Amino acid sequence: MAERWAPDSWRSKPIVQVPGYPDEAALKGVEDQLATFPPLVFAGEARKLKRALAKVSAGEAFLLQGGDCAESFAEHRADNIRDFFRVMLQMAVVLTFAASSPVVKVGRVAGQFAKPRSSDSETIDGVTLPSYRGDIINDSAFTPEARIPDPQRLLKAYRQSAATLNLIRAFATGGYANLDHAHQWMLGFIKDSPQSGRYQDIANRITESLDFMRACGIDPEAHPELRTTDFYTSHEALLLGFEQAMTRVDSTSGDWYATSGHMLWIGDRTRQKDHAHIEFARGVKNPIGLKCGPSLKPDNLIELIDLLNPENEPGRLTLIVRAGSDKVGEVLPGFIRAVEREGRKVVWSCDPMHGNTITANGYKTRPFDRILKEVTDFFAVHRSEGTYAGGIHIEMTGQNVTECTGGARAISDTDLSARYHTFCDPRLNAEQAIELAFLLAEQLKKERSGKERPIIAAE
Ligand code: PEP
Ligand code: CO
Repeated sequence: MAERWAPDSWRSKPIVQVPGYPDEAALKGVEDQLATFPPLVFAGEARKLKRALAKVSAGEAFLLQGGDCAESFAEHRADNIRDFFRVMLQMAVVLTFAASSPVVKVGRVAGQFAKPRSSDSETIDGVTLPSYRGDIINDSAFTPEARIPDPQRLLKAYRQSAATLNLIRAFATGGYANLDHAHQWMLGFIKDSPQSGRYQDIANRITESLDFMRACGIDPEAHPELRTTDFYTSHEALLLGFEQAMTRVDSTSGDWYATSGHMLWIGDRTRQKDHAHIEFARGVKNPIGLKCGPSLKPDNLIELIDLLNPENEPGRLTLIVRAGSDKVGEVLPGFIRAVEREGRKVVWSCDPMHGNTITANGYKTRPFDRILKEVTDFFAVHRSEGTYAGGIHIEMTGQNVTECTGGARAISDTDLSARYHTFCDPRLNAEQAIELAFLLAEQLKKERSGKERPIIAAE
């Protein structure tokens, strides 16, 4: 039933959220150049992630996906990357140790630059300009020049992604991620936080376990699983000219892979079934995420699954539900029942960020208690439907920002202005992210000790 696919077949489909480049020829020149550049990731790595996600869909692991709403050129610094990576490791350790669950770590990083916008323009003090669409497209400064889409930005985003990925690979395999260092990850402002005692406790137990192994004659150094970690990249596949340029045939399998990141997702605003973004995503073999907002109807979800995962391959498709704390209980059962009725294998992941954005004191923010409530409800619905809540998708940073209200330090509306640094949506700071990890660990423990997990029992 499916029409022939090619990396450029999206170009003949309707499309939304596209920037208006003033010089199409210059854009084409840059895309042609990008198409000759080395891939950022390898097909074999994307396949490995798919296998890991297949385990998640079978209830045997948990997906932790997080990072900036939008990466920026201005914030491209080694300490930012390290602090982000460290919080991901800390969250993963909490989940692995407290909930005895393997964790698949996927960053919104090394390519998360393009942003869909709710409006094409922005008006400030009577002046209307095109919206900021992410650093890969234009500049956030509120001037007419800054907002003109500039193709050179694609090259800069590519180079920044390569440098970021290089550092992440070094952290993941070069010793930083060694479990023996779980104590050292507790550096910076987080060590004085209300969460630090709980985290320290886990780090102590890890040290004891490693010491115990050594005493038994097992050398943890000889086990790469304890010294290194697998860390994957992901971003929203929004700027399709860039994605097409980075899409290559894998020489081992002969299949097309997007080499801009290991996992790509389709945003809630660009998931129309006959449009360009779905067309592009259906043809690349990477793991794909699909954002599922409250306007998605269960039947439409099944049509999208038919397009994106016709072979029903486990690990191929992650449904990232972002309903909002007030709606998740209403919409999630409909999604789950449709997927179960049709026997589709998916990873169910919860994005508790994008349905919980409000404005307070002139800032876009997200109350931490609403984020926690969406997560708790997400798990509760899965428990009552007998399905597996397999992942979390969050916007977070390793920095001590004040962008989301609440948390153990009770950031208030008036605190927001102190360190509000995001280029797009408000992120959890490191403490809030770790607090969330402890809540997740509790939920996951409940889920894993559940009596009859029918999906897993059937495997
Ligand atoms: C995002 O993840 O930053 C985003 C824009 O999400 P959504 O498509 O779910 O609104
Ligand atoms: Co966002």
